[in-house]
Amino acid sequence: MGHPIFLDLDGLIGVGYIHESLYKGVNMDWGMANRLAQLIQSDGKCLFMPIDHGYFQGPTRKLEQPGKTVEPLLPYSDAIFVTRGVLRAAIDPRNTKPIILRVSGGTSMAGEDLSNEGLTTSMEEAVRLNVSAVGISIFVGTHYEKESLLNLAKLVDEGERYGIPVMAVTAVGRELEKRDARYLSLCSRIAAELGARVVKTYWCENFERVVQGCPVPVVMAGGPQVNTEREVFDFVHDGMQRGAIGVNLGRNIWQNDHPVAMIKALRAIIHENATPEQAQKIFDGAKRGEKVGSKG
Ligand code: 5RP
Repeated sequence: MGHPIFLDLDGLIGVGYIHESLYKGVNMDWGMANRLAQLIQSDGKCLFMPIDHGYFQGPTRKLEQPGKTVEPLLPYSDAIFVTRGVLRAAIDPRNTKPIILRVSGGTSMAGEDLSNEGLTTSMEEAVRLNVSAVGISIFVGTHYEKESLLNLAKLVDEGERYGIPVMAVTAVGRELEKRDARYLSLCSRIAAELGARVVKTYWCENFERVVQGCPVPVVMAGGPQVNTEREVFDFVHDGMQRGAIGVNLGRNIWQNDHPVAMIKALRAIIHENATPEQAQKIFDGAKRGEKVGSKG
């Protein structure tokens, strides 16, 4: 993995990675480099679309029929994050984007403790499904911290053997108030230390602290739907300025009444360096049916 470079962005001290360093890192085999290149686009940025929520939430609102939800969004997604069950049932193998396979689970909203996850899918199955990466949650600071971290370490051992990158998800379960820079930088660094190739964490104030402490690329999750589109554009833009390489963002796209307009606007922030104001215009225009916005 390459070294971070420091950027002066509108007065912010951000941190970013030289894109090439993702692929020219020490000990990165062709398969690993190729899969990362499928996920992280040639500009070094990415928009991943998660539709894995059902693995512990059941039929989440607007994801009752995941195939229908994701179909119009696929052209604007760089990858989708999904379990093997929904992948087989709802995603056309002839018309898809790179797959990040959710391989942790075993708990539900109705159970006692969301942090008590295990590995749900083997690496052999990931290879059979021809995925570009696997994703697993870790639960730092919980009763099951150790199990989730050892699950990650084991998955990394297997992923490295087959050239499949592991994306670690710094999960907070129901405790959304945990999402601050101190906690998320702790989780993200631990995930990287255990070998994750990409870390998915939440945006927070002072997000550069999370990125600077994490020696692998960081993508932002969205969390529950917020009140306005503008809030999403603001935090995604802020996180990108502070060093995130992109998003893994679901509910704030597909629970919106205008999901295609939403993903076009977010794509513009991520891949075209649009400001939140420009993103809002793209959203408003796309909502009205105008032919504006981001490239698919
Ligand atoms: C669920 C996940 C989701 O992929 C993640 O939460 C991102 O989705 P959203 O933007 O809806 O929060 O990991 O555990």
